[in-house]
Amino acid sequence: MTADQTATPPTTPTTGTSGTTPGTSSAPGSGEVVLVTGASSGIGRATAVLFARRGASLVLVARSESTLEAAAAECRAAGAKAVEVAPVDVLDRTGLQAAVDTATGTFGRLDVVVHSATVMAYGRLEDLDPDVFERVVDTALHGTNNVVGAVLPVFRRQQRGSMIVVSSLLASITAPTMGAYVAAKWGQLGMIRTLQQELRELPDVHVSAVAPGGTTTPIYSQAATVLGHTGHPPPPVYTPERVARAIVDRVADPRRLKQSGFTNPLIIAGFRLFPPVFDALVGPLLKVFGMSRDSVPETTGNVFAPVPGKEATRGPYRGI
Ligand SMILES: NC(=O)c1ccc[n+]([C@@H]2O[C@H](COP(=O)([O-])OP(=O)(O)OC[C@H]3O[C@@H](n4cnc5c(N)ncnc54)[C@H](OP(=O)(O)O)[C@@H]3O)[C@@H](O)[C@H]2O)c1
Repeated sequence: MTADQTATPPTTPTTGTSGTTPGTSSAPGSGEVVLVTGASSGIGRATAVLFARRGASLVLVARSESTLEAAAAECRAAGAKAVEVAPVDVLDRTGLQAAVDTATGTFGRLDVVVHSATVMAYGRLEDLDPDVFERVVDTALHGTNNVVGAVLPVFRRQQRGSMIVVSSLLASITAPTMGAYVAAKWGQLGMIRTLQQELRELPDVHVSAVAPGGTTTPIYSQAATVLGHTGHPPPPVYTPERVARAIVDRVADPRRLKQSGFTNPLIIAGFRLFPPVFDALVGPLLKVFGMSRDSVPETTGNVFAPVPGKEATRGPYRGI
């Protein structure tokens, strides 16, 4: 283990930072109770703000308390009815349960859960530190299982609820030097599809997956890397706000797997129909269009502990 591989100690959610602003929106979904994981950065944060604009009551989950507070302030300013922050690692089952209890205890119910928390690592499978590989996969698989374990009993009790998991184009294709993340997202999608089959007897409980293409968020600069440089969202690059709209739309229009990115189906078709061509092109294309020209020392990024200074809604790349 290198120096910055210290695991985040389990945190008890110090919720209670409520703030109330009048819910001004009468849009569908207005007034719903929504829990978002990965709410301090990127797609999760953009989604929390979009729900806030619709007058939702929010519980925001991520590891870094300072950026969660900043996200909470943004949600209040956007029109959230109330906001609670829960600085919790999704691998901390007890903490996650307490965050869900905060939603039901404070707001009386839980209508929507958006699960966006993820970490990423760049490096060939043979070169990646096994601890990094394990944590990337763990965060996706055990993290998702912990969310499911805390949320599903509430949805079953209520006989209704909507869970939207942020998947990825990389849950349907593979790319060299992204094996840990690919394993994480393929596994996570397998869990979500299984869950959809297990919930068929509950007509008003919905689980959707939304799979973005390259999106301008800090995930690329926060990732672990052994490549000597960081990654870059491959074009076409989307904004997190665009993906957030696709997520919020799933409340009224649940889908098993919704691709969010107009080239995703084309790329997936190439992967499935023409594997030799795809395999020959994906490495060189990723090097040119999916890697930054910077030079960074080997780092574990935010895999084991948050890097609050890098968290924001958008990354530095232009998006559509
Ligand atoms: N950006 C893209 O191009 C892209 C493309 C396809 C799919 N996606 C998917 O979109 C989702 C969000 O990614 P993003 O781009 O928005 O990434 P991001 O900007 O790096 O945000 C990740 C969020 O997850 C939180 N997080 C990470 N590990 C956590 C843990 N163990 N427990 C709790 N929270 C944790 C982070 O906060 P802390 O570090 O403070 O915990 C942060 O709020 C992910 O599921 C990713 O796979 C992204």
